[in-house]
Amino acid sequence: MTKEKEERLRKLRSLVDEHDQRYYKDANPTISDREYDRIKREMEELEQELDPLGLFKQETSSNPDEWAQALPEVGDDRLEEFASHRHLVPMLSLDNTYDETEFFEFDQRLKKLFDLNELPYVVEPKIDGVAVSVTYVDGVLQSAVTRGNGIEGDVITQNLKHVSALPFDLPSLPGMPEVLEIRGEIYMSHDEFIRLNDLREQAGLPLYANPRNLAAGTVKLLDPKEASTRKLEIVLYGMGACSPESCFKTQSQFHRSIREWRLPTVEYLKSVSSASEAWEAIQELDQLRHGYGYPTDGAVVKLDPIEMQKNAGSTAKSPRWAIAYKFESERQETLLEDIIMQVGRTGTITPVACLKPVQLAGTTVSRASLHNADEIARKDIRIGDFVIVEKAGEIIPQVVEVISAKRVENSQPFEFPTECPTCEDLLVREEGEAAWRCPNPECAEQIKGRLEYFASRGCMDIDHLGEAVIDQLVDQGKAKKVSDLYELKKEDFLTLEGFAEKSAENLFHSIEESKARGVARLLCGLGIKHVGSSVAKELARNFTGIKQLGQASSDELLEIDGIGSIMAESISDFFEDPGNQSMLEQLEKSGVETSHELKESGEQPFSGKAFVLTGTLNTFSRDQATERIEALGGKVTSSVSKKTAFVVAGPGAGSKLSKAEALGVEVLSEEAFLELLEKH
Ligand code: IVH
Repeated sequence: MTKEKEERLRKLRSLVDEHDQRYYKDANPTISDREYDRIKREMEELEQELDPLGLFKQETSSNPDEWAQALPEVGDDRLEEFASHRHLVPMLSLDNTYDETEFFEFDQRLKKLFDLNELPYVVEPKIDGVAVSVTYVDGVLQSAVTRGNGIEGDVITQNLKHVSALPFDLPSLPGMPEVLEIRGEIYMSHDEFIRLNDLREQAGLPLYANPRNLAAGTVKLLDPKEASTRKLEIVLYGMGACSPESCFKTQSQFHRSIREWRLPTVEYLKSVSSASEAWEAIQELDQLRHGYGYPTDGAVVKLDPIEMQKNAGSTAKSPRWAIAYKFESERQETLLEDIIMQVGRTGTITPVACLKPVQLAGTTVSRASLHNADEIARKDIRIGDFVIVEKAGEIIPQVVEVISAKRVENSQPFEFPTECPTCEDLLVREEGEAAWRCPNPECAEQIKGRLEYFASRGCMDIDHLGEAVIDQLVDQGKAKKVSDLYELKKEDFLTLEGFAEKSAENLFHSIEESKARGVARLLCGLGIKHVGSSVAKELARNFTGIKQLGQASSDELLEIDGIGSIMAESISDFFEDPGNQSMLEQLEKSGVETSHELKESGEQPFSGKAFVLTGTLNTFSRDQATERIEALGGKVTSSVSKKTAFVVAGPGAGSKLSKAEALGVEVLSEEAFLELLEKH
């Protein structure tokens, strides 16, 4: 029996190691937090059982020189390419529980330790982001560092320079310590995640799985310029070290102080005087947390007085003075009725789970992404299985696991197709890629995807040409290439389902009208791999037309701002393809605008000037203001730096305005901005 248990422990340890690696180093976890917590809990319980003397458990020493020998058990996110920084106080993890009784047991342990009837706690949200430690010396930001192995982490200051809520300088207010190490979490807003995934989709690249992984990947980018194109946010909750040491007496005082110093803090921090009051606060927080800007997955309960925290001490993994009560993300059990394959416009095959409809977090779920073949094999997901579906940080519901006890006897492992479900071509998988692809550009599903993309709002914006119409045009053999759309006559639409004289005429006009959308939109609509709307705009600014772009050498392409070698190669490949060449000729013959006169960029009034828009503008939307600035040769960026020429601030402007003032960047009211536009 013990042998079996030892074997199980070995297995669990290697599983925990594997998932730590995926979570911390690769920023690409493949199991949910709940699943991870379960494996880890089982491992710890077995360790307890097989090692009653506690040989596995290390105590941290109060002597910092000994920390390096006793590494905390917190995973390791360090990468070779980054400089290391040693934390003044180690960054530990937290004990987790999903269970009310365990929460009260935590309180019992502490009450016994202090020999007191009730204890003072604070309750605050547990933020589900990427752990960071920021250090200010004499009020100036010195470094931002990842958790690393808990003792030392990677320096990521450069990648956080654009985080507008993180001040470089703190205001000099009374009580400011000389050295202040603060703990917090980096996260990405839902809107930013959607914006970046839209760009990925436009560029025909695989989508990011969820905001947390994307934030973790962004802080570890080697190019800070690239990092600055992805908006990150930060929230700070805890103290690492401070000098002089007696700066703060309680966690709640620390919180009030950093808020006064205009650091971004959590909006919920409740001081209570007993565990039962803390339990009430946890319930309250569970209701409120969905309104916060950052993702939360639980509540953290901490002893409030710092002196008591010190007396309670820590294990190798976590402090004894705090506990995280994790909220369950919504999960449901349902039947997996089928697995179908979706073919994207670039040929990527995505397996999709067809589920017996089930209510989950307020919506009916009948589809879930299964990601790729490896994911199905790893979880051994089979048609006819009962599965657990979860909607956690992810936008798309996920199949978390199979309920193996409910598996029917004769079930068979899922065989991933070897052929495209649409054109039956053999699927291919390039080295290092997770996805299988249909290699046939003539595949009807790919054709439909390309036409839909061409007609979409961000590209040629063709009204009345939606998915259902495109399906019929392709199925009836009336359109194969985007250029075929311009050869169609009104009569061609009369054969489509639900079409009559008027609707056919409307569609014909919309297609005609789209001929004048301009080179940038056309370029975007062609769906060249890696060329989304911003790259298309940049290319259009540099070339008189599609023809000239097609003749550009890769050196010429590489000279353009934002174009790297992968993009340059993809552009050259597109124009070398004879099919694409004849399609482009056909577009030109049909009267689609494929060239334009270049604006002399040197003469533009806003050339080389970066604007940041913040607060509410009354005269126009952000998009309209951006269009006006770009029309005059300027650029709109999301974060304020010394290079920003103007910050246009409307009512409600916050940290960007303060940053502009601190950096001496010129701030324009909406009226002043209008005047500036009118001058040109
Ligand atoms: S306190 C000594 N408070 O969750 C360690 N941690 O799973 C005390 N976290 O390592 C940590 N929100 O990265 C604390 N309000 C909060 C938190 C929080 C998120 C993170 C932190 C911690 C991890 C543990």
